[in-house]
Amino acid sequence: MLKSATGQSHAKIIFWGEHSVVYGQPAICFPISEIKTTVVIEQTPTGQHIQSRYFNGSLTQMPESQTGIQLLINTILTLLDEEHTPFQMKISSAIPAERGMGSSAATAIAIIRAFYHFFQHPLTHAELLRLADVSEQYIHGNPSGLDAATAGSRVPIWFIRGRRPQAIPINQKAYLIIADTGIMGQTGLAVQHVKKQLAENPQAQPAIEKLGANAKAARTLLADGNTPKLGAIMTNSHHLLQTLGVSHPALDKLAGLALSHGALGAKLTGGGMGGCLIALTDTSEKAKKIASLLEQNGAVQTWIEPLARMNHKGV
Ligand code: MEV
Repeated sequence: MLKSATGQSHAKIIFWGEHSVVYGQPAICFPISEIKTTVVIEQTPTGQHIQSRYFNGSLTQMPESQTGIQLLINTILTLLDEEHTPFQMKISSAIPAERGMGSSAATAIAIIRAFYHFFQHPLTHAELLRLADVSEQYIHGNPSGLDAATAGSRVPIWFIRGRRPQAIPINQKAYLIIADTGIMGQTGLAVQHVKKQLAENPQAQPAIEKLGANAKAARTLLADGNTPKLGAIMTNSHHLLQTLGVSHPALDKLAGLALSHGALGAKLTGGGMGGCLIALTDTSEKAKKIASLLEQNGAVQTWIEPLARMNHKGV
């Protein structure tokens, strides 16, 4: 066992495929390596202590809202035969919670990496994703595995449920604006809502299939550099997600503003019903202008990500 060990992960942005990925359609997801979660574990003489933005106390006393994390930690300790080893863990995260940026998956991945490092135990990528599923299942009910796969990846991925994620190349001189509405959108509830729509709304199934077709078209466009076309199918995906009932007036307002001020496309990202919007521009100047406009009109925070950078980065 080491004196102390660190595990990290990062935020994610679903470019294409939220919700439709749950039903077997492909998704494209980007790691946002600048927005990180860090977990530090240290040796201590007694106790098993956790400190995070939600909780400060003993592992056995974590509140119900933290049960997913508690389950994950207990699973790791049992697997490694370290149930009674004292430790103290500090979780710090710059990823806003419940905004579709993969905060829970990043926390899980960082915790697993930190523990395996602390106990100097080898960890395969498959094991990392399998363990992350323990807390994700508890928190989201029926996760596709996309969030954990992106939290564990350094590069953009093409993801189909139940299959190995594939790295995909990006050949775009374009910029993504990420705008946080500040409204919490619970992924589990949004996934339940789509399930209900599929049972009741005849437009829901075709929308799921079109979202899958858009992801396939986007994969080609990301590689060949046609930014305006990429933007157009982004906006089309936003409309399809509106049909599924997972947008929010705040997201629609920011999307409309971005589009009317020169964005090539805009859509919600993640579970929706709040959370974040993404918008695409062809220059960084336009991205900066639109980001500041969105902040003047309700976005609580914005980030600008050059797409080309995504090929090389990650924790
Ligand atoms: C949440 O980040 C993405 C969803 O597609 C749910 C999932 O894939 O498990 C809404």
